Amino acid sequence: MPLANDIIKSIRKVVGKQKHHLHEPLFCGNEIKYLKKTITTNLVSSIGPFVKKFENQITKFTKSKYAISVVNGTEALHLSLVACGVKNNDEVLVPTITFVGTANAIVYSGGIPHFVDSEFETLGIDPLKLEKYLEEITIKKGKFYFNKKTKKRIKAIIPVHVFGNICKIDKLLKIAKKYNLVVIEDAAEALGSFFKNKHAGTFGLVGCFSFNGNKIITTGGGGAIITNNKSLSKKIRHLSTTAKINHRWEYIHDAVGYNFRMPNINAALGYAQMENLNNFLKSKRKLFLKYCSEFLKSSRIVVIKNPLHSKSNNWLNTIFIKNLSTQTKKKILNFAHKKKFI
Ligand SMILES: Cc1ncc(COP(=O)(O)O)c(C=O)c1O
Repeated sequence: MPLANDIIKSIRKVVGKQKHHLHEPLFCGNEIKYLKKTITTNLVSSIGPFVKKFENQITKFTKSKYAISVVNGTEALHLSLVACGVKNNDEVLVPTITFVGTANAIVYSGGIPHFVDSEFETLGIDPLKLEKYLEEITIKKGKFYFNKKTKKRIKAIIPVHVFGNICKIDKLLKIAKKYNLVVIEDAAEALGSFFKNKHAGTFGLVGCFSFNGNKIITTGGGGAIITNNKSLSKKIRHLSTTAKINHRWEYIHDAVGYNFRMPNINAALGYAQMENLNNFLKSKRKLFLKYCSEFLKSSRIVVIKNPLHSKSNNWLNTIFIKNLSTQTKKKILNFAHKKKFI
């Protein structure tokens, strides 16, 4: 299997000396100092200064107005869907390539995932196919669009920035506008990715991040929702804190809320990680450029690159190998998995 051996050799060359494996968090800053502070002050749970500090770092970095930190990326999506009014069998368009959490969140909200094709260039939703497809399957009633087959309303779309690559968000926004769809961006993998200098997650009505241990920064487990809409941000924050009316001792809840707020101890970790985000981005970029130069002359291997005007965080550098036999694929994946490269 000469192709498999050649590719393995190339991957070894690029990442062989990396001390850090894919999906491993890197703690090289103030993590222990801040975590210690949460313990010495007895503020490890839902109340504490790091939550606000961490949220401020996110709004500053993404240039969004509001950020609400939550327990994970899946619940960030779930809460966003609920707050945006997805319920009762509303259909939500979602790409075929994503993590299962995107589709799960739709089901948790009462919606139905409606899968649409992803494209090769960015691995995000294919806008050309989407437009054609919506033309075929929808019928307009009043201001809204319904699925001719299921009779259900198509209410929202979740563009996903797969592996940190910005999907064709400008084209998807145009389609969403035409079909009156709420846009909830799944930027779980895309902290540090930009399109035309605008951060991932700031294009839709809301954007969601994950800070799971495998992401570009981690809070252990965690997520965040960003938005520029004040009333929506208030609604999301309220729903994430059990919909409790603010009072020192009374427990009055005005809706069925969720207990999804990020604890202070996790936010402390995130605060330290955010201080190093630019360094993490630099080393991911360096690795990406190494892949590009290694496979530059290859006729069969393409490194997934940023389309025009977009800048990926290179969270998960991806190569596409053309005409791959199952056997060769297995050999490469076995090698990469053993070495913790995938
Ligand atoms: C694209 C995508 N969406 C959603 C999620 C869900 O995030 P979490 O694992 O924090 O629940 C992830 C993360 O794993 C993801 O990669």
